Amino acid sequence: MIATVRPARRLEGSIAVPGDKSISHRALILGSIASGESRARGLSAGADVQSTAACMRALGAEIEGSTIRGVGMDGLLAPGAPLDCGNSGTTMRLLAGLLAGQAFESELAGDESLSRRPMDRVVGPLRELGAAAAWPPLKVGGKTPLRGIDYQAPVPSAQVKSAILLAGLYGEGPTAVTETVKTRDHTEVMLAAMGANVTVDGLRVEVRRAEALQPFDIDVPRDFSSAAFWLAAAGLMDSARVRLLGVGVNPTRTAFADTLTSLGFVIRRIKPRLEAGEAVADLEVGAARPEGTLHVNGNGAARMIDELPVLAVVASQLMGTSVIAGAGELRLKESDRVAAMAEGLSAMGADIEVQEDGWVIKGPRRLEGARVDSAGDHRIAMALAVAALIADGKTEIEGAECVDISYPGFFDHLEYLA
Ligand code: S3P
Repeated sequence: MIATVRPARRLEGSIAVPGDKSISHRALILGSIASGESRARGLSAGADVQSTAACMRALGAEIEGSTIRGVGMDGLLAPGAPLDCGNSGTTMRLLAGLLAGQAFESELAGDESLSRRPMDRVVGPLRELGAAAAWPPLKVGGKTPLRGIDYQAPVPSAQVKSAILLAGLYGEGPTAVTETVKTRDHTEVMLAAMGANVTVDGLRVEVRRAEALQPFDIDVPRDFSSAAFWLAAAGLMDSARVRLLGVGVNPTRTAFADTLTSLGFVIRRIKPRLEAGEAVADLEVGAARPEGTLHVNGNGAARMIDELPVLAVVASQLMGTSVIAGAGELRLKESDRVAAMAEGLSAMGADIEVQEDGWVIKGPRRLEGARVDSAGDHRIAMALAVAALIADGKTEIEGAECVDISYPGFFDHLEYLA
């Protein structure tokens, strides 16, 4: 599908972006091994989360709407065929951890993009735990018991951390992961809420074997990483007043909002509250006159990894030279996001230079509508749509249906707000 996006000078309205993708995956996976029925209202309807739901059903859990009937720690069944993780790295990596602890072997498969992404980063530590694990193709499980390990994570990745913690639930002795930067902690938060023995000490997280996990009843916060597109777009308008309802503002997710604030964006948090240990608030954002430039390093990049494509759009409107570095991981996402954003923004007239691990962006440049390619990557399609809103003339985004991976209804929201 080609999406045509026309420029807007003003954004206004109140919207509820989809349920948090990271929390939705974890709710489906952990709910499936709980002792009894869990409820997770507002799960993401995106295709990635549908992939996790389908895999958990293939493993014997019953999932209908917001209800997840858990089968207990040892109740999963051997799947009859390779589990299809679709486009979802989170599905594949988290399930690799969970399934490493099972008495049966599972094979995990994915689409062309996912099949190209590195899985050795989970296979290595899972083998250290004593699991059978091989890639490619990714096959795990069938060799138990696992033994706890103390793992120093070389790359900041919540998916790898979560895979190890999930395997650790089946380990003898404690399993710990120490990171160099604190990545999103939804797995730890949810495990603690379910009664697992989890200890967090700074950058180190430790779990112990779990005999049983209690079911939960939660309202899934809405996805900060989806809200991020509107935070950026609103701030770059001549005039804007956008309210984003019930967004998850867990501090491991909101570095992007802090970065925008440092540039002069005003993002107000209204009705701050807690949902099952997760911070939630309505966010209100207006037009800004951004000032200053960006200097993002490896730590910063890891803390806003999913928001970097749209941050590049913001950088194109800043006066001076912005450097977004330490973001080599972007090349290993659903597409090579370093290359895909540079290609799209260059076609629209931005001054963006590709580096091995990020971009150097000189601004401000007036963007021109152009025909651009999403590279089949949801976050690229949405970041280019934000660029299109501030450009002169119409932009056509090829392969725009990929927004359904995390944000079905994105273009309806765009039309409503613009
Ligand atoms: C995610 C972790 C991040 C992020 C992805 C979701 C998660 O990936 O980019 O969208 O839910 O754990 P990495 O672990 O590869 O950094």
